[in-house]
Amino acid sequence: MTKSVEKRQFGDFQTPDELAWEVVRTLKLNHKISPKVIVEPSCGKGSFVRAALNEFINSKVIGLDINEQYVEAANLSISGYLNSDNATIYQSDFFNTDWKDLISTLSGDILIIGNPPWVTSSELSILNSQNLPLKSNFQNRRGIEAITGSGNFDISEWMLLQYVEWLSNREGTIAVLCKYSVARKVIRQVKKRSGNRFSGYVYLVDAKAYFGASVEACLCILSTNINSNIDYEVYKNLEAEKASYLIGERDGLIIRDTVKYEKWRHLAGQDLKYLWRSGIKHDCSKVMELERIQDALFQNGFGRKYNLEENYLYPLLKSSDIGNGRTLDYRKLVLITQKSVGEDTSIIQNRAPETWKYLIEHQEYLKNRKSCIYKNKPLFSIFGVGLYSFKNWKIAISGLYKRLSFSLVKPLDGKSVMFDDTVNFLSFETEEEAKFIFRLVTSNSSLEFLDSMIFWDEKRPITIDILKRLSLKAVARELGALETYLQWNNAIQIDRGQLELELL
Ligand SMILES: C[S@@+](CC[C@H](N)C(=O)[O-])C[C@H]1O[C@@H](n2cnc3c(N)ncnc32)[C@H](O)[C@@H]1O
Repeated sequence: MTKSVEKRQFGDFQTPDELAWEVVRTLKLNHKISPKVIVEPSCGKGSFVRAALNEFINSKVIGLDINEQYVEAANLSISGYLNSDNATIYQSDFFNTDWKDLISTLSGDILIIGNPPWVTSSELSILNSQNLPLKSNFQNRRGIEAITGSGNFDISEWMLLQYVEWLSNREGTIAVLCKYSVARKVIRQVKKRSGNRFSGYVYLVDAKAYFGASVEACLCILSTNINSNIDYEVYKNLEAEKASYLIGERDGLIIRDTVKYEKWRHLAGQDLKYLWRSGIKHDCSKVMELERIQDALFQNGFGRKYNLEENYLYPLLKSSDIGNGRTLDYRKLVLITQKSVGEDTSIIQNRAPETWKYLIEHQEYLKNRKSCIYKNKPLFSIFGVGLYSFKNWKIAISGLYKRLSFSLVKPLDGKSVMFDDTVNFLSFETEEEAKFIFRLVTSNSSLEFLDSMIFWDEKRPITIDILKRLSLKAVARELGALETYLQWNNAIQIDRGQLELELL
């Protein structure tokens, strides 16, 4: 096995001593902990063991790691310490260790510290690695999917939830370096399972500087030493003296900034008329996206040119266009083969014979699309399409960009604009209505409310799920524009048939 595969399967990013020491000092100074015993369940070359021996000179320290050489290195590195007898470091596989038994032999306040492996279960299955919790370890409890809420989970998430269990009926602190997204998932689980048993703190850590990793990382602290705050304090780094914001649970959701959320909570609610949608999903850009060469001549992603009818082609704006506010022009067109999901596509043959010929010529590419959503669907099917796609005016935002920047999108060359499936949008028949709703969506109150819920480190931070939590009616009320809002709501009565179609 190559070194890099090995490093990946063991999620091996050794913590620099400097960071481990900073973590331990933060625990001692800011959180005033004085543990009797310290456990490092995947101690690697031992940076946390050394930091612990330095700062908590009388505490007992236990370090385990699956890697024999790391254990040797860790043991060697503490041989000169005056209190090295306080430490026991040995080789053990986390998933084969009888933790219940080990923890029960330790008395007094406990600190579980470290930096568990940075790897996900799906990365492990790609590497065909066995470095996973054994089924027998959790079969008698709830399945791992039930525990983590997902088939793909971070190994560190699973380990952290184990640590939480170890502290279910004893006092102590957990302090681990992990992805910020993992910390959030753990917080959600802890709230669900243990209520307010733990107080929590998150210190953001510059993973690029310390580990060369492009991921938002943090020190996540969970302590049975509870404070009066049910929310978790988030600090922008380990030196910060004041928390930047408080994460917590509200209305069944994990909220990034609970103070801001509380301020605008009256804007929460669902709008029946204005439904956020995502753009077209076709999974075959080389065939479905074309550039106009001249008049009716178009070039596809393979560089081949075709004469096609105009009636199935629409201007396409991608996430990068929307994210950068480029909405007045378009580079590509997209073939929209259906007016609604599941619609029979054979009518294209009569309505646009050249387009049909083009699709037939490329049907293998379309048939080979991996996603199971295309199975048993009409030939050349697309998703994310409905009557709403063909409305002329749109308010769009890229789900991928890390800013709340909405664009008002008008029809281009007389046709409604389509988006890719990473763009979220609302659509309207008229410019006037679109402009009115645009004013609501881009008001300071809306932006603050949405911002309070968005975790900006997510790959796709702005989701439909978040956008739809904003009640445009409540925003209209806030801005003194409720009457206009109601006029728009009453002016165009959505008939039930249309609504049902739109909800598909
Ligand atoms: C992210 S590194 C951190 C090491 C150390 N805690 C530190 O902070 O420097 C993860 C460590 O987990 C160890 N590891 C991976 N899988 C393990 C397992 N199943 N049992 C115990 N240790 C494991 C790796 O050998 C590696 O040393």
